[in-house]
Amino acid sequence: MRVGKLSVAVDGPAGSGKSTIAKILAKKYHLTYVDTGAMYRAVALKMLRNDISADDTERIQQMLDKTKVKVLFDQIYLDDEEVSALIRTPQVTNFVSIISQNPEIRKYMTNTQKEIGKTENVIMDGRDIGSVILPHADLKVYLTASPEVRAKRRFEEMQEKEGENLSLTLEDILETIQKRDFQDKTRKEAPLTVADEAVIIDSSGLTIQEVVENISVLLDKILDAKG
Ligand code: DC
Repeated sequence: MRVGKLSVAVDGPAGSGKSTIAKILAKKYHLTYVDTGAMYRAVALKMLRNDISADDTERIQQMLDKTKVKVLFDQIYLDDEEVSALIRTPQVTNFVSIISQNPEIRKYMTNTQKEIGKTENVIMDGRDIGSVILPHADLKVYLTASPEVRAKRRFEEMQEKEGENLSLTLEDILETIQKRDFQDKTRKEAPLTVADEAVIIDSSGLTIQEVVENISVLLDKILDAKG
């Protein structure tokens, strides 16, 4: 289906299925998919590589002035290097929830992401999309699921990828998820919150296809109204 100008915000906690769902919807409705978490992860990777600490405002600003982060569907480029796999390590995952609280980094991301939203038909997923990046989005979805369900999904995903090499247990993953939820929801800058007008979908008892169908019903209505 081809659409006119359309913007969709998908927010929610880690492991709620945002990126899987957003990618399917992006293909179905011909929207540009922007994984904003991946953008934060790329900056976290650069800081780890350059040994920049989360509170070193001066070096962070110098780094941001010389940093280019680009997303092309599920490929992410840091200064023209493809880093899609490198940004998914546990080390980056732990560091990113700390650095994403930094005001300079948030400002850099907000400017970059708002710019993309101005020029393209987008579906963006993250934590502050409906509240900060796309406050006038045609549709705002807050996708959630219980911490236990999210941990189980992550665990199965990792088992599939890494098989017997997986050293993390289900309990480790649940603990990380709960820690990240707390950090994301309680931070001062743009905390994870249900944006005004957002439709809350709890995917705990739903399949991916069912979530996609629920959101498609809403999107089709919006598109019909747009004519
Ligand atoms: O969605 P993710 O797990 O890849 O996100 C990585 C981290 O980035 C997560 O700890 C929260 C943060 N983040 C954010 O603060 N704002 C966004 N719009 C997207 C992600």
